[in-house]
Amino acid sequence: MERENFGSKIGAILAAAGSAVGLGNIWRFPIETGRNGGAAFILVYIGCIILLGMPIMMSEFLIGRHTQSNTARAYQKLAPGTPWKWVGRLGVFTGFFILSYYAVVAGWTVEYALLALGNQFQGMTTKEEYERVFTDFSSDPVWPIVWLIVFILLTHFVIVRGVARGIERWSKVLMPLLFIIVAVLVVCSVSMPGAGSGVEFLLRPDFSKVTGKVVLNAMGQAFYSLSLGMGCLCTYASYFDRKTNLAKTTLQVCIIDTLIALMAGFIIFPAAAAANYGLAPQDIGPNLIFITLPNVFQHAFGAVPALAYVFSAMFYLLLIVAALTSTISMHEVVTSYMSEEFNLKRSRSALIETTLSIVLGIFCALSFGKLADWRLLDMTIFDIFDWTASNICLPVGGMFIALFTGWYLDRQLFRDEITNGGTVRAPYFKVLIFVLRYITPLLILAIILSNFGLF
Ligand code: PFF
Repeated sequence: MERENFGSKIGAILAAAGSAVGLGNIWRFPIETGRNGGAAFILVYIGCIILLGMPIMMSEFLIGRHTQSNTARAYQKLAPGTPWKWVGRLGVFTGFFILSYYAVVAGWTVEYALLALGNQFQGMTTKEEYERVFTDFSSDPVWPIVWLIVFILLTHFVIVRGVARGIERWSKVLMPLLFIIVAVLVVCSVSMPGAGSGVEFLLRPDFSKVTGKVVLNAMGQAFYSLSLGMGCLCTYASYFDRKTNLAKTTLQVCIIDTLIALMAGFIIFPAAAAANYGLAPQDIGPNLIFITLPNVFQHAFGAVPALAYVFSAMFYLLLIVAALTSTISMHEVVTSYMSEEFNLKRSRSALIETTLSIVLGIFCALSFGKLADWRLLDMTIFDIFDWTASNICLPVGGMFIALFTGWYLDRQLFRDEITNGGTVRAPYFKVLIFVLRYITPLLILAIILSNFGLF
């Protein structure tokens, strides 16, 4: 079967950045920053991106680009007859899981964009009112499912158009749109009277706040945010041109992802400070975006209702765009796997993945209402999916990817791939190998053990 490639360098970068930039940047990053002490957390996070994120991203890129196959076959090609293929299969499985619950939250962003566009938040003043809107909606047996299906179908629509005409073309439209919205929101937010203490929170590090747990949270966030550990970037790299400079692309994607996360922080904390909202720890949980923020926006721009309206509407539109480019990348991991391994037409395998994700997603969506009592270890279905995927599957996948490229992969093949056959300089090569062999796997092991309370 003829394999498609991304048609341009910029298209490839934007697609990979689109996978990385998502709810993780705009929803999860500010939560983690708020809970873990602000500026000091950000510095640790940047350290994690450099030590952990960049080496694994380069590894995924080189495995995918070298083998030009889906993530499961990639390992089979590089390590035939060995159990390494399970690293790829774990990635496909993780992609399927994450898409199912991620699309539930993505669906909520559609509802909230519509609420914001319909000016439904105007006149609401107390936290309880916002809480009621969220609880009524998320526990409803119909609407969260409708939006979940709409979101997965939107993703499906892009995927079936293929790599260049679907993923690449839409990334080229959506990513600049996302950047413009983020930039406008940052400028509005930091220029509001009273925003200063929010800015300070993000810029003045208090190192006494940095504990072992903060470092571990920063590592987990780096993984999630960069889409590492499940073969997503490996799959995208299989569509890269042979001339793509992998180190440069890694740097570009990491910079874009970190920049957008930081900018999300500069939207949320200054707005909260300006609203004199005094974000309490319980406001900076998963409900930050759906309960706290609409309230913050109304307070911050209370004097000019039109501004509150535009700001809220743009913010939820931003979330939709960011989530969509990420769900596309998760869907692609599974679609390319099924179509190449089982010799199915792309449209057929996309349809299977879409159907399976909707079915699983319905259970996740209902776990906020009708199925709220279905619990294991006090976790709902949604919590179990989120916990298993981000705290177990992604770090385990990432650790094995580092071990694979650091210890198993032929050194010459590795060098050839990152230097594009000797045409690009790679003075960092020895350091990279050292980091992949020792530093990255050990750090990740620390995250996993900490998740089990063993560290
Ligand atoms: N990086 C995405 C985000 O920050 O929202 C989430 C994600 C996408 C995780 C793709 C894993 C993945 F493979």
